[in-house]
Amino acid sequence: MQNFKHHIPTKVYFGQGALSNLQEALAPYGKKLLLAYGGGSVKKSGLYDEIMTVLRQEAYEVTELSGIDPNPRIESVEEGVRLCREKNIEVILAVGGGSTIDCAKAVAAGVFYEGDLWDMVSQGGSRGPFLPLAAVLTLSATGSEFDPMAVISNLKTREKKGARFDYPAVSICDPSLSFTVPPLQTASGSADIMSHIMEDYFAREMDCDFSEELAETILRSVMKNCPVALKEPDNYQARANLMLNSSLACSGIPSYGKDFSGWAVHAMEHELSAFYDITHGVGLAILTPRWLRHILAKDPSITPRLVRFAEKVFGLSGDDKNLLARQGIDALEAYFVSTGLPMGLEDLGIGREHFEDMAEHVCRSGRLARAYVPLGKEDVIAIFEACLSAPA
Ligand code: NZQ
Ligand code: ZN
Repeated sequence: MQNFKHHIPTKVYFGQGALSNLQEALAPYGKKLLLAYGGGSVKKSGLYDEIMTVLRQEAYEVTELSGIDPNPRIESVEEGVRLCREKNIEVILAVGGGSTIDCAKAVAAGVFYEGDLWDMVSQGGSRGPFLPLAAVLTLSATGSEFDPMAVISNLKTREKKGARFDYPAVSICDPSLSFTVPPLQTASGSADIMSHIMEDYFAREMDCDFSEELAETILRSVMKNCPVALKEPDNYQARANLMLNSSLACSGIPSYGKDFSGWAVHAMEHELSAFYDITHGVGLAILTPRWLRHILAKDPSITPRLVRFAEKVFGLSGDDKNLLARQGIDALEAYFVSTGLPMGLEDLGIGREHFEDMAEHVCRSGRLARAYVPLGKEDVIAIFEACLSAPA
């Protein structure tokens, strides 16, 4: 088992009615507040009005950063930083999914950053100082509510980069705020949660019972609850399980004791999003089964890991271990299909025209050469090729 450091300073208010803690959550900070949100779902759901009522009662001086896109753009970060400097903002309140929270994290750092903000993101983030950030989560997916990472896109340079900033000081996670999440976002968010688990699960180390079993539990829980949430969007237990899984999956906790795995699928998905602005979880669902088939064929020594996955996550069994390993991957793909996600790049209007560029770019950092099963440019192109058509 590998050594690890545990340090998660975010205070979390979790559960139905958790928004009633907003006043307490913001109390330690100043009254000049930047309210960050996305393209309007918060207004449609009534959440914006609810929050503004509290902020008015508490005499906050509110400045708004609205219209933050999915795959948040560097331009939104620049605008947020400009507003914070102009209005001497003392605290940021991000209300939304991962995109809004990520953008707010970059703004919280960017306010103090001298220089080009895309450089800040490209060089991997900032060590501070930061403005304090409070988050109200509305979508179970990224875990941004409980981690220090932000993923920002630059459509001009066709780059989407993850960077490390500060943890939210406080996150309010009320699963009922996710009742209005549409089916595609419910399914893709769930695929993202699963991917965060699988990126670390598929690693060489298999001797940390805690992380192995926790990962398998979260995968089973997501596959149990996502279909319920798709059928009954306001099923509290299903939404609550998804939200708790979301926060834990990307927290680093399920990888305690494990070795570096490379997060190869996320690296490849960020290329797809950078070139085609696709939904993150959709890209992950398309890539994951194809990546697993590719690495199993390339390095059959990983068969025991995939056998464990088939047995523990899907309850499959059989004497032919090679077959069992492949059946686990097929079961994962069938699950994604069952949630209604588009499962081929062609379904998204993506062809092979940029495969070379994307593969070249993703391999440049050298990270994939150290992944669970190391990948080179030709491997990445082969995986993208296998992703073109949806499964029959
Ligand atoms: O923009 P609005 O109008 O709010 O609508 C959003 C958006 O269209 C909508 N939505 C959110 N909550 C809703 C809702 N619609 C109805 N009711 C609600 N309660 O859902 C759409 C997607 O929102 P977004 O925030 O983009 O989704 P998600 O949370 O999946 O975030 C995706 C972004 O996070 C990054 C991804 O790459 C992508 O840029 N990631 C961040 C990570 C992190 N910080 O650690 C890790 C992840 O691996 C990921 O890369
Ligand atoms: Zn992700």
